[in-house]
Amino acid sequence: MPTLATTVDGLKFKNPFVIASGPPGTNLNVINRAFREGWGGVIAKTVSLDSTKVINVTPRYGKLLSKDKAEVIGWENIELISDRPFSIWLEEFKKAKDTNPEGILIASIMEEYNKDAWIEIVERCQEAGVDSFELNFSCPHGLPERKMGMAMGQDPELLGEVCEWVMSAAKKPVWAKMTPNITAIEEPGRKALAAGCQGVAAINTIRSVIGVNLDTLRPEPSVEGYTTPGGYSSRAVKPIALRVCMELATMIAREYPGRSVSGIGGVETGEDAAEFILLGSDTVQVCTGVMKFGYAMVKPMCEQLLAFMEKHKFETISDFKGKSLPYFTTHAELVRRQKERKAAQKAAGEQKVVKADGEWSGDDFVKQSAALADG
Ligand SMILES: Cc1cc2nc3c(=O)[nH]c(=O)nc-3n(C[C@H](O)[C@H](O)[C@H](O)COP(=O)(O)O)c2cc1C
Repeated sequence: MPTLATTVDGLKFKNPFVIASGPPGTNLNVINRAFREGWGGVIAKTVSLDSTKVINVTPRYGKLLSKDKAEVIGWENIELISDRPFSIWLEEFKKAKDTNPEGILIASIMEEYNKDAWIEIVERCQEAGVDSFELNFSCPHGLPERKMGMAMGQDPELLGEVCEWVMSAAKKPVWAKMTPNITAIEEPGRKALAAGCQGVAAINTIRSVIGVNLDTLRPEPSVEGYTTPGGYSSRAVKPIALRVCMELATMIAREYPGRSVSGIGGVETGEDAAEFILLGSDTVQVCTGVMKFGYAMVKPMCEQLLAFMEKHKFETISDFKGKSLPYFTTHAELVRRQKERKAAQKAAGEQKVVKADGEWSGDDFVKQSAALADG
């Protein structure tokens, strides 16, 4: 019987399914709910020291529906990090750990470009008893205007420096959450790992405009008639997330073996999770899926992942982690391999010996005669 239990960076997860930072981990009430339903870990909504600077608007979500309007394919949000006071968060971290000692509770943190602030936030969350950290270098809206979130994730030097500050204070594992809104994801990934982060998490949302209302001619989500580009998530982003995780996992295997990847983006089923793990992820996070289907979705996801493992006779997550990575190569190599296979087939065809009189062909008559003479 396979097991979903997995240890990542010393953290013992009962399964690899982790609530991604966002509304599904936005207060103690929902964090407790997630653990009760069976999630292996919860990453709380991103916190900062001074929540008074965080002012949300409504509406702040927009959906992309399938043509028959039956399915949500994509989801845009212009939501900021948590607008709840840091002191309340610290109490809730303590209570969440008291109630769920086995559940892995991860604090997602974000600060401005200020060493003291980053060190303070790490130390105070640590004292409150969180199991580990995720550094939000990736929120694509609102916060980059304050040089936070994606503004740091897009600047590998800055990101590396902030990771060094964090690692000078952190006594718990740290994952750097990367933005996909950058051309070469390996560059910031490398900086985070060089600074000593135990792992990377990817992806946060993709900068997007969800659509334009054809009656009002206003872009959406419309706040007082105006909008701002937001972050795109849900099923539609999975192929991009898989590519980013593959690139990070490939770089890690070569340059930082043993460091971890937490895969995020469009996960809704156990099969989705299997794909992320096959491409090198240690854990798999879900945000929008929970907003669409609720916390109980973790149960079928666990069953589906176990069924996949049974089918392939994998006993543990590490039995298949990264198993599909060796099958990526360059386009030139695909061309070479295809040429080689075609040439081999042709050669085999040329040597094909006539076994019945119906197989003689006018074009290959001489070759076929020779092949029969050769034996
Ligand atoms: C409404 C909403 C709010 C989010 N807030 C945060 C956040 O506070 N911190 C963070 O790191 N990521 C945040 N995210 C990003 C998610 O954690 C996740 O990286 C992204 O949505 C892709 O995963 P998904 O397709 O499973 O949602 C948010 C996403 C959504 C949809």
